[in-house]
Amino acid sequence: MPRRDSFTRYLVEKQRVDGRIPPQLRLLLEVVARACKRISFAVNKGELGEVMGTAGSENVQGEVQKKLDIIANETLIEANEWGGHLAAMASEEMEGIYVVPNRYPQGEYLLMFDPLDGSSNIDINMSIGTIFSVLKKPEGHPGVHDSDFFQPGTKQVAAGYCIYGPQTTLVLTVGDGVSMFTLDREQGSFILTQENVRIPEDTKEFAINMSNMRHWDAPVKRYIDEVLAGKDGPRGKDFNMRWVAAMVADVHRILCRGGIFMYPWDKREPNKPGKLRLMYEANPMAWLVEQAGGLATDGRQRIMDVQPTQLHQRVSVVLGSKNEVERVTQYHLEAD
Ligand code: AHG
Ligand code: MN
Ligand code: MN
Ligand code: MN
Repeated sequence: MPRRDSFTRYLVEKQRVDGRIPPQLRLLLEVVARACKRISFAVNKGELGEVMGTAGSENVQGEVQKKLDIIANETLIEANEWGGHLAAMASEEMEGIYVVPNRYPQGEYLLMFDPLDGSSNIDINMSIGTIFSVLKKPEGHPGVHDSDFFQPGTKQVAAGYCIYGPQTTLVLTVGDGVSMFTLDREQGSFILTQENVRIPEDTKEFAINMSNMRHWDAPVKRYIDEVLAGKDGPRGKDFNMRWVAAMVADVHRILCRGGIFMYPWDKREPNKPGKLRLMYEANPMAWLVEQAGGLATDGRQRIMDVQPTQLHQRVSVVLGSKNEVERVTQYHLEAD
């Protein structure tokens, strides 16, 4: 058996040996992992824990909130607000930013999260997750403003997700590759189970919600038509399709064995740039994918170069195996 490091030891070494993360960021990541562990236990209780079903409220994006959306959101806030490592948080489930209350020390980081990704999977016992992204608060002014969060994905200092599936796995990047940690439920700690995750450049697997086909733009139609044509079509090979309806799970599959994931802009809501949210869904996933050798674009430009102007800004997403993402992006640019 190889030596298996705990998440704590991994972070301590990232701080002490590599000098890659400062102590406050190490604390922040430990706290996020602890919150994810709590969410994992709540998820596992299911019907036994009164965590299923809807909460009877809506979030700012007009989505019906599930009880677990709210539980996960509160768990992340309560775990993170008192440690002194954060200035503020932002979440899919909160309209405005959450500034760390005065009674606690203020830190220098900003944390954004999708507390519960894949909400429609909660009640059917399918994979769901938590996505997070960490920025540094810009210096030079007191207090925290919404605009402090409006930094492109290239400014992230840490990003990751935790998937609650058959196993609970935490996936992290601090800018030097992607590592995975599996929750050991007996020990109650995350254990390093994979380092230097790499996404193959080519793939025969795609993920898109095909029911939206009639609403797609021409470049997306062209790409999907070609892969559906299989061996006898222009691509000369058969493709397979997967769609979990939780971005966390679809991206996790891509990090494990390659593939392309798309949630493109479509004609259902022509004035919105896409369905997925830039700051706490697309950016952290884009950084993980790039750190594993893949690509992430909005069809035209690199997702991490998009300048945010709103907390809940949406974006079109194409990510995964390098050669496929390049092809879809090329098709968009040719059509412009
Ligand atoms: P959330 O549950 O956090 O609102 O996100 C759901 C997102 C994403 O995880 C998934 O890829 C997509 O919505 C699924 O959308 P469809 O139901 O349109 O397939
Ligand atoms: Mn939602
Ligand atoms: Mn989500
Ligand atoms: Mn969510």
